[in-house]
Amino acid sequence: MARAQILVIDDEPIMRDFLEEALVRSGYEIVAVADGTAGLAEIRNNSYDLVITDMKMPGLDGLALLEQTKKMQLDTAVIIMTAYASVETAVKALKAGAADYIMKPFTPDEIEHVVKKAIYERRLENENRYLRSEIEQGFNFQEMVGSSAGMVAIYDQIKKISQSKASVLIRGESGTGKELIARAIHYSSPRRDKPFIKINCAALAPTLLESELFGHEKGSFTHAINKKIGRFELADEGTLLLDEISEMEPGLQSKLLRVLQEKEFERVGGTKPIKVDARIISTTNRNLEKAIEEGRFREDLYFRLNVIPIRIPPLRERKEDLPALAQHFLKKCTLENNKNAKKIHNDAMMQLMTHSWPGNVRELENCMERAVVLCSGDTVTSDFFSFSARAHHAPAGDGVYLPENVTVGDAERILILHTLKKHDNNKTRTADILDISVRTLRNKLKEYQIAGLLDDSPKESEAP
Ligand SMILES: Nc1ncnc2c1ncn2[C@@H]1O[C@H](COP(=O)(O)OP(=O)(O)OP(=O)(O)O)[C@@H](O)[C@H]1O
Ligand SMILES: [Mg+2]
Repeated sequence: MARAQILVIDDEPIMRDFLEEALVRSGYEIVAVADGTAGLAEIRNNSYDLVITDMKMPGLDGLALLEQTKKMQLDTAVIIMTAYASVETAVKALKAGAADYIMKPFTPDEIEHVVKKAIYERRLENENRYLRSEIEQGFNFQEMVGSSAGMVAIYDQIKKISQSKASVLIRGESGTGKELIARAIHYSSPRRDKPFIKINCAALAPTLLESELFGHEKGSFTHAINKKIGRFELADEGTLLLDEISEMEPGLQSKLLRVLQEKEFERVGGTKPIKVDARIISTTNRNLEKAIEEGRFREDLYFRLNVIPIRIPPLRERKEDLPALAQHFLKKCTLENNKNAKKIHNDAMMQLMTHSWPGNVRELENCMERAVVLCSGDTVTSDFFSFSARAHHAPAGDGVYLPENVTVGDAERILILHTLKKHDNNKTRTADILDISVRTLRNKLKEYQIAGLLDDSPKESEAP
């Protein structure tokens, strides 16, 4: 974590020296000034985590300084020192937004304790905004539904990797549950009590994304009225989810790479390096390898992000999960909407099973919600289903589903994996049917494995 910056304001040189010595020894960075006016100038031009000010000073006193500080830097904590054991002044200070107050004289231990607490609380406050939204989303690991081989392999993977802090790249079509898996990794890791911070790389213009990620110093650009703590800093000791990483522009990719390598960065317009320890999870529904080939994505960044690849199979490749998912959403939507639907009609279930779900689990969730809200009895019928027109067209029979805009490489992989699965992972038979050599087949599988593209990985031992 970055060393906290503290500004000390006191007209007595002895007091300034005392504080400086006590706090530098505890690992803080200290600037000390002799009066309120000099203090305000410091606060205006720098970004302090904490200000410790005397109450009674010639000129600007502690309370006035506190008031001015809160106007300029809302997130700077202020501690007031007072020589008079007056409850009234203390209450006044706290009411005006002071983090704490301390009665003079005090020992180095006492001030250290007060400082530590104020800095901790200030940090919590920043994190709380995010934690609150997490709680509002009602996250619960138990809410992950699905027992298909593909999903079980993912649960296993989550358990294995949760203890490490290696970067994870989660791939999957839109709506497959990438964010849910990212949360599951965080909440089953030792970092679970620290923040889970998310940022969508596709949603913001590059300069905004940069200051969201790294924060900025006051005045670093036209709209930087105040200092801003970036998501990276907020995710310290926790997890940072970089959603839709493929959409990050190349300039920012280089900056991100630097942070991943050096584990420190500067706020936009800042010069102080800030240390961070955040586990990085990124997601994408794009073909990153292709983006690399086309020069749109840095290969070195890709290697940093893709230490552990997880690929979530699209829903149409794990139809066995569909009944459980549909029941799960039935229950959830019934509760949320105060309805009493309890069952899904057989015909309705048949329709759900035959749809190709281009929008994956999210599409299913929306479909069930609509059906639950509009249905009047206790059984959900297909009357209110409305399926996405953007269907994944399947060839006749039990053939392979190919997504739209699929590349030749992807189509080949889907075909190979489908055929292999259909023939119980029998490589000889699969190679025969596809008219390729067993060796080519093995090489392809190895390639997919390395690229993290094996969802239902065929087991080597089972092959003849
Ligand atoms: N296995 C699952 N069990 C229960 N709910 C799921 C599962 N997978 C996904 N969902 C639900 O489906 C919805 C979409 O999931 P999520 O947002 O994680 O998908 P995503 O892959 O991040 O989508 P996008 O690419 O659009 O960002 C969420 O409401 C999520 O809770
Ligand atoms: Mg998502």
